[in-house]
Amino acid sequence: MPVTEEFSPKIVAFCCNWCSYAGADLAGSSRLSYPAEVKIIRVPCSCRVNPMFLLRAFQKGADGVILCGCHPGDCHYSTGNYYARRRMTLLFSMLSYLGIEKERTRVEWVSAAEGARFAGVMNDFVKTVRALGPCRRLEDVRCRE
Ligand code: FES
Repeated sequence: MPVTEEFSPKIVAFCCNWCSYAGADLAGSSRLSYPAEVKIIRVPCSCRVNPMFLLRAFQKGADGVILCGCHPGDCHYSTGNYYARRRMTLLFSMLSYLGIEKERTRVEWVSAAEGARFAGVMNDFVKTVRALGPCRRLEDVRCRE
């Protein structure tokens, strides 16, 4: 019987400092587990995430990218997450045009008090991306190790 190694997706999670990153922290301190494949990048606000960051992540070999921010109306900078939401909507439609499955990208709102939600979202996202398999559509082979 052949031994098959389970695919371990590379997931990049952009988390805003004021809510989602604190939610991730709470998940950790509450001992809630989420997959180690999730690599968190802390940003001041979800609107700091330039759409190019997501394209660059896919170019560097990410299999899925998730953007987490404060709930609408709760952004520390008032309207940052509204800008982020609009930008990502446009980017996601462009990604599907490029052949990237829409399930590989996601925007989620997670507050600082929602550690369990953070862990649940990450578990679900990793499961979804794992089922899709590796993403090679935008990968730059020069970025491979
Ligand atoms: Fe969290 Fe703006 S500070 S989305």
